[in-house]
Amino acid sequence: MTSIANISWSTDMAVPETDKHAVSDHFSRAARSYDEHAILQLAVGRSLVQRLPQQLPVDAALDLGCATAPFARAQQQALPTVGWQAVDLSRAMLAEAQTRGRFNERYQPLCADAEALPLADASQGLVFSCFALQWCDPQIVLAEIYRVLAPAGRVLLALPLAGSLRELQQSWQVINQRPHVNALPGLADWQSAALQCGFMDADLQQQVMVEYYDSVKSIARRLKATGADHVSGASGLTGKNAWLAMVEEYEKKRTDQGLPLTWNVLFLEAEKS
Ligand SMILES: C[S@@+](CC[C@H](N)C(=O)[O-])C[C@H]1O[C@@H](n2cnc3c(N)ncnc32)[C@H](O)[C@@H]1O
Repeated sequence: MTSIANISWSTDMAVPETDKHAVSDHFSRAARSYDEHAILQLAVGRSLVQRLPQQLPVDAALDLGCATAPFARAQQQALPTVGWQAVDLSRAMLAEAQTRGRFNERYQPLCADAEALPLADASQGLVFSCFALQWCDPQIVLAEIYRVLAPAGRVLLALPLAGSLRELQQSWQVINQRPHVNALPGLADWQSAALQCGFMDADLQQQVMVEYYDSVKSIARRLKATGADHVSGASGLTGKNAWLAMVEEYEKKRTDQGLPLTWNVLFLEAEKS
């Protein structure tokens, strides 16, 4: 078994941006609870695995922002001759993946930033990523993916777009103007970034998914357990009165199925020509 000491640590990680530390810290705290709570993320990831190509131009692939590497087995079954690198900013997530027995000689961990991969140009046949690149700049991360892909290599991404968690954002907006939900890039941002980076025939599809919860507390618990509660630029604690007022607002959105939480999910597929 791979020991934790063997997790490759990119030298580029020595001085990451402050926000990268915050993202990594949030996910590190969620490492143990991630698999049990990431219901939507895991469902989206499984549908992404179904879209894996049958052959790659180079027998090397990446899962960017793999967390606990929940798709390791399915990915290896789909592409049995390929060597995978499971990349994540959070060392604790990779350690949890290791505890769960997800690494082997063909599926190796790499602690690195998706926006600055310590990998050679044109070295990968596939880049896969599910619910991980939403804190990245679309232009920077797609250029990096394009760089490491070999000609005819493919990228397969799913991530939440602007408009996700809108009920939470709307409920907070009535209470105060502090950021409580991340300002995510929209479809047009990813579309123009894909074109500018050289992915000429990128296929981008948007799917709206709604989860229902019994209480705002269970929504907050779920977001925390999956690390999705990280908000760029947020500072200070939320007071109890502000929280209760927000809950009252959110309750106005209750339906027969419960409290809705909307995710606006992008599926992006492209080939390096
Ligand atoms: C919501 S989890 C997704 C995990 C998994 N891909 C899934 O679909 O269940 C997001 C993961 O992306 C990682 N992440 C976020 N930004 C990253 C970046 N710039 N580079 C590498 N990993 C990143 C986080 O540390 C976290 O483990």
